[in-house]
Amino acid sequence: MKTTQTRLAAVAALTSGAVAITCDKDSLQSAFSSIATVDFATWMPANSTFNIPKADIAYPTAPTQLRAACAVQVSVKNGTSNYGFGLFLPDDWNGRFLAVGNGGFAGGINWLDMGAGLGYGFAVMSTDTGHNSVNNNGSWAYHNEGAILDWGYRAMHGSTVLGKQLTTAYYSNDILYSYYSGCSTGGRQGLRNLQLFPDDFDGVVAGAPAWWTNHLQPWTAKVGSYNLPNTSAHHIPPTLFPAIGAEVMRQCDGADGVVDTIISDPEACDFNPDLLLCTPSKNTSCLTVPQLNTLHQIYSDYVDTNQTFVFPHLWMGSEAQWVPLLGLNAPNNLGPHYVQYFLQRGPEWQWQDFDYGVIQQADAQDPGNATADDFDLSPFMERGGKLLHYHGMGDGLIPTGSSVYLHSQIFRTLAPKDVDLDSFYRFFLVPGMQHCTNTATTVNAPWYFAGANQAATLSSSVSGVPGFRDAKHDILLAMMAWVENGTAPAEIIATKWVNDTLQDKVMRQRPLCMWPKKQKWSGQGDVNAAETWSCE
Ligand SMILES: *[C@@H]1O[C@H](CO)[C@@H](O)[C@H](O)[C@H]1NC(C)=O
Ligand SMILES: *[C@@H]1O[C@H](CO)[C@@H](O)[C@H](O)[C@H]1NC(C)=O
Ligand SMILES: *[C@@H]1O[C@H](CO)[C@@H](O)[C@H](O)[C@H]1NC(C)=O
Ligand SMILES: *[C@@H]1O[C@H](CO)[C@@H](O)[C@H](O)[C@H]1NC(C)=O
Ligand SMILES: *[C@@H]1O[C@H](CO)[C@@H](O)[C@H](O)[C@H]1NC(C)=O
Ligand SMILES: *[C@@H]1O[C@H](CO)[C@@H](O)[C@H](O)[C@H]1NC(C)=O
Ligand SMILES: *[C@@H]1O[C@H](CO)[C@@H](O)[C@H](O)[C@H]1NC(C)=O
Ligand SMILES: *[C@@H]1O[C@H](CO)[C@@H](O)[C@H](O)[C@H]1NC(C)=O
Ligand SMILES: *[C@@H]1O[C@H](CO)[C@@H](O)[C@H](O)[C@H]1NC(C)=O
Repeated sequence: MKTTQTRLAAVAALTSGAVAITCDKDSLQSAFSSIATVDFATWMPANSTFNIPKADIAYPTAPTQLRAACAVQVSVKNGTSNYGFGLFLPDDWNGRFLAVGNGGFAGGINWLDMGAGLGYGFAVMSTDTGHNSVNNNGSWAYHNEGAILDWGYRAMHGSTVLGKQLTTAYYSNDILYSYYSGCSTGGRQGLRNLQLFPDDFDGVVAGAPAWWTNHLQPWTAKVGSYNLPNTSAHHIPPTLFPAIGAEVMRQCDGADGVVDTIISDPEACDFNPDLLLCTPSKNTSCLTVPQLNTLHQIYSDYVDTNQTFVFPHLWMGSEAQWVPLLGLNAPNNLGPHYVQYFLQRGPEWQWQDFDYGVIQQADAQDPGNATADDFDLSPFMERGGKLLHYHGMGDGLIPTGSSVYLHSQIFRTLAPKDVDLDSFYRFFLVPGMQHCTNTATTVNAPWYFAGANQAATLSSSVSGVPGFRDAKHDILLAMMAWVENGTAPAEIIATKWVNDTLQDKVMRQRPLCMWPKKQKWSGQGDVNAAETWSCE
């Protein structure tokens, strides 16, 4: 890895004799080869709102109260590759580059997460991944191999290469360090990128990654089917999900040693679902025998022909987020659309047609080369790259166990080569956090640490951790301290405010622990203060 000194020397060499580039369409265009076209470049004074182009249907929320910056949008045509990206170039640049990610099947520039990155002073980039669509609509992929590959990995890499080129030209300066932060599909994008292009980023923060694309998407159809059709005796109506969540909380909350509405150790809980059974004396907020069978399926790994493990189950404690996958009248589009439009079975294919052949086809084809299953991360490690990975334990969209499984696969690949995983890759579970952000109102777990999408959950103007702008509480600052100073994070303190939209009163803080350590309360002092907890 380059030291700061050699990087600064490179900067000095570049500065002499460079041509000045300004925040202007034509000026910026001169920094580019012909495959890239600058659509617009607009300078925004401090405290501006960035007005999002109308076409961007996936990310319509405008970031507000921004730092003074040049806002740029670029379109790229490169063979069968066709994508765009946005870039914020701050006036008071911190010398570093940050790329942010996308979600689901979305195509669009994530200007809101870019705004959160701009708050640190990064030159920050988001790719549209090569198409325009909302998160849960994958029909753009039908008969569109180029778009699938762009979504799979090409657009992120190309946008990173070109975004860095533009940043370097604009400041007439080399970039000191490059980072990535994304969650869900964004987590997958970060992992896939470091596997295929280990030189792109010095540090990658990957949250709740949708990394196992060719199993996760079919499983999404499969798990939805457990609770369908909605007319069947085995259907659990979504109105009963809170009763299930409450019973899980009642039985499992204390398994970690503290009754605090946060289930920190679901695997330590010996859950007895029969306590939910309807009886003559208990005939509300209860489940029938066929419904209990459905519940059993939801909490079981998906295992198919010849006992083949296909995908891990949702964890207990995720019930408050079950509606999108289990509470609709059909499986979430993120499942069937993958089979219909990525595997090209067409719109005639219905979830009732699901069989193991879908998994076999997905394994054989892996559309877009999207699945981040090159578990040998040694090229990234050898160039000095660092990876921080996290996942909420209350995630109802991407099972927490898929991250545990990923960590295990990487361990099994690298430990035999005598690699100490913790030296470059650290994994943190977040008790009580849902998918990427937030916590159920019945849980109130500390969930905020400035991970991807989190600032946007608080408001359109937040960046970093209000009141706690340090590497102990902010995962991006923790990554920078690791890459730039060699200070590896053993814990990250997560925060829950009394009212998340008003960050004036902290309700709880607690350390997130590096896997496989678990949070342990000292038994003394304020249970809501981070100091009374340790990782063991
Ligand atoms: C920044 O803009 C907001 C409205 O978006 C306004 O309420 C606030 O007063 C402005 N702050 C400054 C320092 O101008
Ligand atoms: C998905 O997008 C296509 C193309 O824009 C549109 O025709 C279709 O109605 C959308 N489907 C859903 C389920 O939103
Ligand atoms: C353009 O396409 C080539 C060939 O596929 C690829 O190697 C290169 O990374 C692409 N560049 C960009 C900026 O997309
Ligand atoms: C439900 O239980 C209550 C007593 O808890 C009883 O009065 C009522 O008749 C029961 N209803 C049915 C439909 O079994
Ligand atoms: C299951 O195992 C049997 C016996 O080894 C084998 O013949 C068959 O091909 C396997 N099926 C699948 C789907 O892998
Ligand atoms: C069941 O699903 C159908 C669509 O398949 C829908 O029309 C109906 O309203 C649903 N019923 C309930 C009770 O949700
Ligand atoms: C897919 O990725 C693998 C590395 O995992 C690479 O060898 C292969 O060339 C890629 N295929 C395409 C079509 O990009
Ligand atoms: C690295 O350490 C120095 C000295 O403690 C500190 O000033 C700087 O902010 C640190 N950099 C990062 C990225 O944490
Ligand atoms: C949080 O504060 C906002 C703004 O004052 C208010 O609209 C919202 O109802 C509050 N939420 C809770 C849970 O108190």
